[in-house]
Amino acid sequence: MSAQSQKRRLNVRDLAAMKGHRPIVSLTAYSAPMARTLDADVDMILVGDSLGMVVYGMDTTVGVTLDMMVAHGAAVVRSTEYACVIVDLPFGSYQESPEAAFRGAARLMTETGCGGVKLEGGVEMAETVRFLTERGVPVLGHIGLMPQLVNAAGGFRIQGKTDDGARRIRADASAVADSGAFAIVIENTVEALARSLTEELKVPTIGIGASPACDGQILVTEDIVGLGGDFTPRFAKRYAELGEELHKAVGQYAKDVRARRFPAVEHCFNPPAKGSGAKPRLAAVSSEAIVAPDAKEQRGA
Ligand code: KIV
Repeated sequence: MSAQSQKRRLNVRDLAAMKGHRPIVSLTAYSAPMARTLDADVDMILVGDSLGMVVYGMDTTVGVTLDMMVAHGAAVVRSTEYACVIVDLPFGSYQESPEAAFRGAARLMTETGCGGVKLEGGVEMAETVRFLTERGVPVLGHIGLMPQLVNAAGGFRIQGKTDDGARRIRADASAVADSGAFAIVIENTVEALARSLTEELKVPTIGIGASPACDGQILVTEDIVGLGGDFTPRFAKRYAELGEELHKAVGQYAKDVRARRFPAVEHCFNPPAKGSGAKPRLAAVSSEAIVAPDAKEQRGA
């Protein structure tokens, strides 16, 4: 059963009820066209702060702002009918206090219409998760690798490899679940740990680089369709090569414009009638004649 077959938008209770019945299918989207494409096939769309890296070319997610999340979250909610849309609280918008977190979450919910928010953190965020969930904000937890902590952690590393690390992740998982999170994303952790957390927790686990046993899976859409640049994380499977397709299409367009094959008659309004003798204003440009404009020209000097 897809989200579309429900004929209404899924909510966080629907997602929580899937545990033990069927896997939760989720992907990220940051824009209207991508959200429209995913809507019928996924249960949950995450407007992740990964948009900082994927859309804005940042090195980490730390520079993402609440305004950015509001703008992208609203575009995704407007363009979907079926999937439950969750929007990330970005770094700096919730760590200071439960009250600050509530203000940020309330902005996301009122200005985007999303079904809930996601925040990164375990034991240290339990009070905040409780504060939000008791006040009507559904929270998706996020433990294991927490990309917003990249500066403190010194990089993006697999989590839970040592006994101590695994103990910490277990404590994080139960703290966030006990505080009312409707589900928990587990990122980049040892497989056996994610598997046993899935068995132990009452709320669904959604894995990314975690375990096939998780109650659901999430990936960054660009990573699975070849739009994520040269690097594909080991945990992401490639289902298409849209980057190559796009490159071919743009190359063909450029050739057509230079050869004056585009626009054709069917793309013009009131074109001259056939046989009227009207000619294009300039001759076609051969590819040898194309030279890169120098820097001065590019600046319009
Ligand atoms: O920001 C994001 O896209 C995420 C997912 C990859 C889980 O947190």
